[in-house]
Amino acid sequence: MISEKQQGTLYLVGIGPGDPELMTCKAVRVLEQASVFIGPKAKKNGASNAVQIAAGQVDLSGKTVLELRFPMKKIVLGTTHDPEVVAAWQEAAEIVLAYLDKGDDVAFPTLGDPSLYSTAFYLLHTLQELRDKIRVSVIPGITAMAACSARVCTPIGLGDDVVSIVPAAFDDDRLKTILQSFDAVVLMKVFRKMERIVPLLEELGLVERAVLIERCGMDDQRIYTDVRETLGRELHYFSTLLIRKKEV
Ligand SMILES: C[S@@+](CC[C@H](N)C(=O)[O-])C[C@H]1O[C@@H](n2cnc3c(N)ncnc32)[C@H](O)[C@@H]1O
Repeated sequence: MISEKQQGTLYLVGIGPGDPELMTCKAVRVLEQASVFIGPKAKKNGASNAVQIAAGQVDLSGKTVLELRFPMKKIVLGTTHDPEVVAAWQEAAEIVLAYLDKGDDVAFPTLGDPSLYSTAFYLLHTLQELRDKIRVSVIPGITAMAACSARVCTPIGLGDDVVSIVPAAFDDDRLKTILQSFDAVVLMKVFRKMERIVPLLEELGLVERAVLIERCGMDDQRIYTDVRETLGRELHYFSTLLIRKKEV
């Protein structure tokens, strides 16, 4: 009888927001053990941030490292996704499946935690459309907002605070409603949105309550305690805005 090789496991691994020391012991162990790495990258000729961060703790020599492009486009759930994005998920899923079927474990390192605005779950969903049963394990990671909060020594939420986490691509009215409704707001993906966000914060009297952390935990990290100073600057994609209305 020919025994079938067991399918490999897909590991969706949160690797924290950039400082390799913020990778968990479990993330490091899983990444060390996986023979195949799939690293997401935004630009065709660019490098995968996730692979670069992981390389700060894990020796990648001897591993198969594939950096695949996932175009950075706005995804609105419940609508038809951009065909280029869907094609990228599909291509990645087929590549991953081929390795899993050979019995290889595949690691998908992802910035921060996989549960928060990560490509990881789109990849998993696409794989599950190709194959009923996928062996998967999700390894949580330190989120960018947690690292940013720690960096500026400011809590995200305390007591009865209600917190909203927002990918900042929303239109002004929706952003304004959120800023008015919640006690604390974490705005992610703000890097090309500050020209719109700063006037909104000023209008709502919140500009003094906001702090922006750019490239948190990295060599060229920058903190803007006066977010008006971001105007006219080209911020890095790794920028997060924390707003909390109340004092401790
Ligand atoms: C696609 S989301 C990924 C979020 C990630 N999964 C998490 O758990 O934090 C990318 C956004 O995370 C934030 N981010 C990631 N790394 C960061 C860093 N080192 N410093 C500041 N913000 C960061 C930025 O808002 C960026 O636009």
